[in-house]
Formats: sequence, structure tokens, C-alpha cells
Amino acid sequence: MEEVSPNAPGLECARDWLTRATSLAVLTGAGISAESGVPTFRGAGGLWRDHKPEDLATPEAFARNPLLVWEWYNWRRERLAQAQPNAAHHALVKLEIRVARFTLITQNVDGLDDRAGSGKILKLHGDIWRLRCTACGANWPDRRVPLPKLPPHCGCGGLARPGVVWFGEPLPEGMMKEAEHAVSSAEVVLVIGTSAVVYPAAGLIPYAKHAGAKVIEINTEDTPYSGMVDCALRGAAGAVLPRLL
Ligand code: OAD
Repeated sequence: MEEVSPNAPGLECARDWLTRATSLAVLTGAGISAESGVPTFRGAGGLWRDHKPEDLATPEAFARNPLLVWEWYNWRRERLAQAQPNAAHHALVKLEIRVARFTLITQNVDGLDDRAGSGKILKLHGDIWRLRCTACGANWPDRRVPLPKLPPHCGCGGLARPGVVWFGEPLPEGMMKEAEHAVSSAEVVLVIGTSAVVYPAAGLIPYAKHAGAKVIEINTEDTPYSGMVDCALRGAAGAVLPRLL
């Protein structure tokens, strides 16, 4: 992987679009947290290399073996508790302050944008730092690492689950509509560190393009949408994004 040089084609253009933009939407995926030491899902070292999503990230897996699923989430929470937001998370906070209409849409559940200081975040796949009761539906934050007892329970006695969206589940009510509105009304859309293969999130990229936004992709590798975007910047998010500011 080559690093983007300051004069790489596209960098100047992308910087110019961002400087002029009064509305900006950002879609992020696991790659933005890679430089914080958080493993991605696909590719070398990805979580789905050693684990099957159907064993750990579906409602059926949880019904079959809640303890196994919780052990995996507890392990991820332990790793995340050691991680710090990186230059890319911090750059998004700067953009939020600078651009009048700004929306951050993330597929990440890691909470690193909150810790960097981002304001409103559309967390399409939920939040690993929240728990939800499978009996009464209560939903609460819990940052304890490790959790004192697995699987955790709600005050009502019901079994608690991670506050994330699993494969086969709908996204949080109304959130996709809000995300679609954000990308279709933005002058510029930044797509950072996502393999763009998981829907409906990935569908926001062509949605933005068809609505007329300038779409800039930052990724260490090509994605299925690299050929469609206005500018595909190859490199690590923490190195490339700060150079666009
Ligand atoms: P993936 O693991 O599928 O993709 C990560 C992307 O980040 C890849 O395209 C990498 O090339 C890129 N990447 C890696 N390091 C990078 C870096 N330093 N800078 C920029 N890009 C980098 O992660 P997602 O696209 O987020 O869902 O995956 C989408 C969903 O699939 C996740 O939310 C999760 C997963 O299964 C659920 O668990 C429901």
C-alpha cells in the first residue's frame, strides 16, 4: 500500500470541494478505527477471518448460545477500552465544527467518535457500549470492562443483549431515512474505511452520487464503488483525512 503523497491526483480537488462545502455527510466503516488498533471485519487480520458472523452476530446465534456471543462482545469491549481515537476521528470533529450542515453516519459500534468529541452520530449498527433487555426492551449505557457477570441481565430479570444491530435485523427505526436525507442533501459526501459490501449502509454511496453529491472515498484498497466515486484516495484514513482539512 502506498501512502498518498501531498500532490497525489485528486487530493487537491478533494481539499477544494471540502473547503467550499457548506453541507457535508460522512459515512465511516471499520477502516477508520484500524489505526487505533481496532481490527476490521474483512481483509487481513479481519474479525471475519477467524469467526463466522452466523455464530456471533445474528439473533439466532444469541438465542442458541448467549454466553458465547457475550464472551466475544466482552472481548471486543476489552480491546476497545484500550484504544484511543486517531487522527481521522479528530479530523471529523474539526469538520463538524467548520461545516454548517454536517452529518456523521457510521457503521462502527466502537464509540471512538464519541470519545473524539463528535456531536450527533447516526450509528447505523448500534453501539457496543449500550445494552438492551430482550424481555422489557430497556436500553442503557454500560461501559464496564469486563462486565461483572456474563451474560448480563436487566433489572427486570430479563437477559440483556449487546446494543448492536446483527445480520438479519433492521436498523434503528428511522435512522436510514435520516442518513439518506443527509447524503442526498449534502454537497460533498466522504466515505471512509468501509468495504461497502454490507447493505443498506453501502447503498448510501450510489444514493449520494445519484443525488448529485461529490463523493470522495478514502480507503487503503479499492471497493466496489471506487470506480463510481468522484475521487478515490488510496491511503490510511489517519494520514489522508487530516491533509484534506
Ligand atoms: P470491513 O472490515 O468490511 O472493511 C474495512 C475497510 O476499511 C476495507 O475496505 C479496508 O480496505 C479499509 N481499511 C483498512 N484499514 C484502513 C485505514 N487505515 N484507512 C482507511 N481504510 C482502511 O468494515 P465495514 O465496511 O465497516 O456489521 O463493515 C461493514 C459491516 O460489516 C460492519 O459494521 C459489521 C460487519 O460485519 C455487523 O456486524 C452487522
